[in-house]
Amino acid sequence: MENLATQTLLPDNQGLKDAARILSKGGLVAFATETVYGLGADARNDRAVAAIFAAKNRPSFNPLIVHVADIARAKEYVEWSTQAEEIAAAFWPGPLTMVLPLKANNGLSRLVTAGLSSLAIRIPAHPIALRLLKAFDGPIAAPSANLSGRISPTTAAHVAQGLDGRIEAILDAGPCDVGVESTILGFYPAPTLLREGGVAREDIEKIIARDLAVADPKAPVNAPGQMTSHYAPKAALRLNATATQHNEILLGFGPVDCALNLSPDGNLIEAAANLFHHLHVLDAESPKNIAVSPIPNVAIGRAINDRLIRAAAPRDQ
Ligand code: TXA
Ligand code: MG
Repeated sequence: MENLATQTLLPDNQGLKDAARILSKGGLVAFATETVYGLGADARNDRAVAAIFAAKNRPSFNPLIVHVADIARAKEYVEWSTQAEEIAAAFWPGPLTMVLPLKANNGLSRLVTAGLSSLAIRIPAHPIALRLLKAFDGPIAAPSANLSGRISPTTAAHVAQGLDGRIEAILDAGPCDVGVESTILGFYPAPTLLREGGVAREDIEKIIARDLAVADPKAPVNAPGQMTSHYAPKAALRLNATATQHNEILLGFGPVDCALNLSPDGNLIEAAANLFHHLHVLDAESPKNIAVSPIPNVAIGRAINDRLIRAAAPRDQ
């Protein structure tokens, strides 16, 4: 892999202009969204999209989310529906991705969808991400800006830890608010939850006035990137821990005695925002294994548990 001099760009007019120019030339720019940092490339440029897979060591069968500035642009790429309209009105811009049928002659690189006939698309709610989309004036393909299988980044420093020297630039807009990736919703044709994330399942069910179907995790065609082991810190992780065992430190939730606390008040939104950051800190500093307090499996707690279960899963290496 080429050794690039990765620039850090500020989230001001000049930084946005530079970031848009790098994207236009087929370069890679990591940028903040409200969920996690994304690794962006021009979604119409095969070479640029291929460079995302190379920089992340990402298996190329795993398709990417396309980010757009507004609904009119989303409609250029996917077959729209009244259901999509209802969901977009409620949650866009925001941490929700819809998987919809890909339109013919869409102009996107086929690498983005990894050959599928559907496209994952969202409008992010971060003001700098939206300004970048407008400055670039095109669709940005962006997975999370981490090496494949590792902890997702919620700060520019996390991005640099994994991708320094592998990408052209990082647009540093501070820490991400939500802290876990977007919720992914497919229509098959029933609205189906493909990934828990920043929008709570309960809130989507209120809007569609019915229960969501949940994708069979063994049907990889529905959510090809849902690898069992993901978000993995170097240390082993043990979940639902009420006390530490030998050689463990506790990642706490609620009023517990611990090394780092996701939310001393037991607030799930705060815990999601802290999740990847705390895992990065414990991963960098501690040779010990990590025990994690129980997290209630409601609202965004479901996304936290999903990420923790993957982080704790047995790995290949
Ligand atoms: O919050 C987020 O969603 C972040 C920010 C940067 O937007 N992005 C993100 O991307 O989490 P990534 O690539 O780490 O995860 C995207 C997931 C993968 O599991 C992928 O398999 C799935 O979306 N996906 C993409 N296209 C799909 C499609 N057409 N059908 C089903 N799943 C799809
Ligand atoms: Mg990811």
